[in-house]
Amino acid sequence: MTENHETIDALQWEKRTFAPSEAFKKNSLVVGTHLYDEANEDYEAFWARQAEELVTWAKPWDTICEWNLPFSKWFVGGQLNVSYNCLDRHVLAGKGDKVAIHFEGEPGDTRTVTYAQLLDEVQKFSNVLKGLGVQKGDRVNIYLPMIVEAVVAMLACARIGAAHSVVFGGFSSQALADRINDAEAKVLITADGGYRRGEVFALKPQADEALENTTTVTSVVVVQRGNNPVDMKQGRDHWYHELMATASNDCPAEPMDSEQLLFLLYTSGTTGKPKGIMHTTGGYLTHVTFTHKYVFDLNPEKDIYWCTADVGWITGHSYIVYGPLSNGATQVIYEGVPNFPGNDRMWNIINKYKVTIFYTAPTAIRTYMKWGVEEPAKHDLSSLRLLGSVGEPINPEAWMWYHENIGRGNCPIVDTWWQTETGGIMISPLPGATTTKPGSATFPLPGVGAELLDDAGKPVTRGGGYLTLTHPWPGMLRGIWKDPDRYKDAYWSRFEGRYFAGDGAKLDDDGYLWLLGRVDDVMNVSGHRISTTEVESALVSHPAVAEAAVVGANDATTGQAIIAYVTLVGGSEVDEQVLRNHVASEIGAIAKPKTIYFTPDLPKTRSGKIMRRLLRDVAEGRNLGDTTTLADANVVNELQKRAAEAPSED
Ligand code: WT7
Repeated sequence: MTENHETIDALQWEKRTFAPSEAFKKNSLVVGTHLYDEANEDYEAFWARQAEELVTWAKPWDTICEWNLPFSKWFVGGQLNVSYNCLDRHVLAGKGDKVAIHFEGEPGDTRTVTYAQLLDEVQKFSNVLKGLGVQKGDRVNIYLPMIVEAVVAMLACARIGAAHSVVFGGFSSQALADRINDAEAKVLITADGGYRRGEVFALKPQADEALENTTTVTSVVVVQRGNNPVDMKQGRDHWYHELMATASNDCPAEPMDSEQLLFLLYTSGTTGKPKGIMHTTGGYLTHVTFTHKYVFDLNPEKDIYWCTADVGWITGHSYIVYGPLSNGATQVIYEGVPNFPGNDRMWNIINKYKVTIFYTAPTAIRTYMKWGVEEPAKHDLSSLRLLGSVGEPINPEAWMWYHENIGRGNCPIVDTWWQTETGGIMISPLPGATTTKPGSATFPLPGVGAELLDDAGKPVTRGGGYLTLTHPWPGMLRGIWKDPDRYKDAYWSRFEGRYFAGDGAKLDDDGYLWLLGRVDDVMNVSGHRISTTEVESALVSHPAVAEAAVVGANDATTGQAIIAYVTLVGGSEVDEQVLRNHVASEIGAIAKPKTIYFTPDLPKTRSGKIMRRLLRDVAEGRNLGDTTTLADANVVNELQKRAAEAPSED
């Protein structure tokens, strides 16, 4: 056994650096450190300046921040309307004809929506909701495909002060029922169906099933999209297009208190029932408007922005709906999967709309790597000037692939760390100001306080530790719906006075932060605490490997043993021993996987996160627990079969 004092061992040190080019800096919003300097001076005053400059208020606030640990309120006493900020103010400024959304349906149908048209549709739908009895403070559930109506529904709720609770369209009827019941929603907005992988997936039948187990929903609005047959329940169910045909397009935006509940978004967490994360109005809008503008270096007159998330996730809320629209951006929304009709659909869309800013997830990038460089090479991607990543640590090799094959070597990459709970981006480069390193989210944004702590709560200045946030920020969650104790327990109990939500990270000599994944995923091998992320990155740095998932399985000798599941780049072959040695040479013999399984796919949640818990169950021969959030359950069955057959390496 080796002595070890580090909270999490940092084994891998990436050396490559990428400074913003002179050409990029020339037109960039921020090239120096002035925003950081200003925020370091007084972070509350900094956020107040952003709120004043970037958001339109109906009534100014009295207090910037009220902080009763762990509850914060921002811009207290101020009033504003989020829908006004996202729509009316742009139209009033003469930008009504500017395109807000280029919608691309999976079958190839398109729809262009200007700010004036979006305002018109949102006002109508606000009146529809009012007509169905929705009042300020009520909750409305949204269960829709990635279509324009999802954006309309969210903004209409915001306009009248109802909180939305969006449930991802890929979730089951049970998941929907649980969320409706917890939020006690009055109205459900859904669709007959949507398109996915060339077929219509039905939503309304799922919604009907969910509603059998709920009691609060009095009306259902159904958008016609899939044209699949559905049952409409008399008195309860209404077609969106029919209600809209007679609705008035005049619904003035009513000013809301800054702390009015804007939405609930449920996140599953590792155990127990989903948590309804609460986000409110003024602080949230300030945070997402600021970060969308500066992290993406947005020029609303020139840029075509595309975030590939679904509105069912926080990324869709903050960086498809509220951030971009508040900034008056033009964006692309795509309904379907990246491999329909071919593996080049994303690159086709970038070329078609001349996308300049592209924001996606590492899991997607690794999938594109697997499909090969020929796919992006078929299309002209020269419109791109900035790339973003979110959702997981991005492995240095995936970062390099993205940089070279999508960014053609000249687009900065912003690796953005944040969470459903943080509301907006917290740790990320500013692309004109920050020298990036592949795989590092770099530094906390101006106005954000982050610090690594060790087990004892002492600051870590180099190496691995727990990522904590040191002071409140405007977009922070205001709590868990109906469960303040769980809120305190889940985020504020591990370290005195600090927000901690489960991520490990390391600091290098230059003070760069490197996210290491959830600390529950850290393995303990012969007393070394090794992050799954580092071993996965070492595996992915082998040219034959597209994706890797690593878990620690109980082991009589070493405490835990490293078990790896590896997906190869299309057409590649490689020996297990070669990969084990590759890991040893990249980060050290201690991190060599004991066993490597080759698999065509990895088990992932619908949002693309690898389900390591399931892989641990497989590796330790346990029966599988809850698999309902898995995107494709077959993947695990296949792996179980293989685990039962495979001999283990020493
Ligand atoms: C967790 C939050 C943030 C919107 C999408 C996910 C992981 C997120 C990064 C990143 C490393 C990341 C963390 C975090 N994560 N972004 N850039 N680098 N890890 O939202 O479902 O609430 O998940 O995603 O583990 O805690 P979420």
